[in-house]
Amino acid sequence: MKAKIGFIGAGRMAGAMIKGLIARNVYTPDEIVACAPSKETRDRMTQTCKIKMYERATDLVDLTDVLVLAIKPKLIASLFKDEGLRLEGRRLLISIAAGVKLKTLQSYAPKARIVRVMPNHCCMVLEGGSGYVMGEKCTPEDKTTVDTILSSFGLATEVRESDLDAVTGICGSSPAYLYMVAHALIEAGMKYGLTEEQATLLAGQSLVGAGKMVLESGMGTDALVDGVCSPGGTTIEGVKVLRDEHMEDIFMRCVDACVKRSVEMGKE
Ligand SMILES: NC(=O)c1ccc[n+]([C@@H]2O[C@H](COP(=O)([O-])OP(=O)(O)OC[C@H]3O[C@@H](n4cnc5c(N)ncnc54)[C@H](OP(=O)(O)O)[C@@H]3O)[C@@H](O)[C@H]2O)c1
Repeated sequence: MKAKIGFIGAGRMAGAMIKGLIARNVYTPDEIVACAPSKETRDRMTQTCKIKMYERATDLVDLTDVLVLAIKPKLIASLFKDEGLRLEGRRLLISIAAGVKLKTLQSYAPKARIVRVMPNHCCMVLEGGSGYVMGEKCTPEDKTTVDTILSSFGLATEVRESDLDAVTGICGSSPAYLYMVAHALIEAGMKYGLTEEQATLLAGQSLVGAGKMVLESGMGTDALVDGVCSPGGTTIEGVKVLRDEHMEDIFMRCVDACVKRSVEMGKE
């Protein structure tokens, strides 16, 4: 029987995507196949996701027309050159590999319709963010397929390929920066007597709520900051400290460094 989607690689990202697709009823487990070289990963995925697992990417090609490339970027060349993966016919290949350009992927699979995606690991809790680029051979139906897949584990937006380094900076990598904010808030909560559990719940929920306000309130970020700061109140005192310490400049430099590395990796 033909599967509807196949994952080359079944690690953290593929596992999270597969869980999202099943949780949101985009595909049933028997419509999904995946491969991984280690038996341990295959057994884990069979147990947790109830999907059929294979050892090699070449085992998947005749089972499905939609393949997600979810292995480390440095392994991709050998997948096509040494393992002999051939995407004959016009298959849809969705690559989540950081830094591997459409042109490079197309050179390995000249006939495939190729999509490049930069997701982030929050897709593990179905709150991922993804930027994606449709390759020139893709059809409007492919865009619908990709939108449906990416929306099953979060929010997605189409971008130009030249924008993917920026997507990496503010979406692919930014959860790490926000975890550092969460860490500081949790430590501060504990300093003032909360338990770690209480501080984690309150700091984490503040990040969730603030994110939703940014997306759903229709207010700009300046208005949102003002909305929390009553004159003479508590928040404004903290905001003054962040402004005095140039917190926005620090984040800008952080994203600059990340984007710079993403550009370098794209050339390697
Ligand atoms: N992690 C992130 O936050 C993030 C964000 C955006 C994009 N990405 C991209 O997502 C991709 C996967 O990252 P990850 O974090 O999920 O990596 P990962 O957890 O290391 O998973 C990689 C998977 O690839 C499998 N694999 C290795 N060689 C293979 C081969 N020759 N054929 C088939 N499968 C093979 C591994 O199998 P075994 O389990 O058997 O070793 C493993 O299941 C990378 O290209 C990365 O750039 C990651």
